[in-house]
Amino acid sequence: MTALKKRVAILISGRGSNMRSLVEASRAANCPYEVVVVIANRPDAAGLLFAKEQNIPALGLDHTRYESRDHFEGQLHTVLTASKVDLVACAGFMRLMTPEFVQKWRDRMLNIHPSLLPAFKGLHTHERSIAAGVRISGCTVHLVRPAMDEGPILGQAAVPVAVDDTAETLAARILEAEHKLYPRILAAYAAGRISIVDERVSWPGSVNQSGTLFSPDLGSAS
Ligand code: GAR
Repeated sequence: MTALKKRVAILISGRGSNMRSLVEASRAANCPYEVVVVIANRPDAAGLLFAKEQNIPALGLDHTRYESRDHFEGQLHTVLTASKVDLVACAGFMRLMTPEFVQKWRDRMLNIHPSLLPAFKGLHTHERSIAAGVRISGCTVHLVRPAMDEGPILGQAAVPVAVDDTAETLAARILEAEHKLYPRILAAYAAGRISIVDERVSWPGSVNQSGTLFSPDLGSAS
């Protein structure tokens, strides 16, 4: 008997390219999750269109129409529960959540952030990475905890920073890595291959043995 797929909700605020990569990966027969609903806190979020085209229920929950954060989250929770959601994947969802909401979905809510956390939490990540002069940045998929961009790190991808990068060119390079990392990590988590012990990830055998990322590339640096 095949295991039931985990039912995933994706939360977005805009373009939704990560949502798209999660949806596309879910089409594989052996993918352990299915996307059952996409919710945006901005009704004009471009990503909602893609979800609709894919026949995935797509909902704009305009947070500005709710009198408080609690009311908005109450409605969000109602939708998630009605959709029998097992896991929530935040994918460019740019809205802080209350500790109460985060607690309700503890260990069932993931997020992607475009830096190697715990470095460069918050907004304007790429601008700040470039200003700090780091030569390697990347992206992180983590479980959501009440503090912004904190929580057990499930997976990361390292991406070199070029000396002439702008925030836009760096964001584009990291986004490519995001699109590979997030579906893999969500699938592994949905399949129950990752467990959390004392707020740290336990995932035996998951280390990439293939080498080290150097930036600058040692082959071309002299
Ligand atoms: C992505 O780069 C994601 O990592 C970032 O927003 C972008 C959304 O793009 N998220 C955060 O900064 C969260 N702190 P997308 O809508 O095309 O997926």
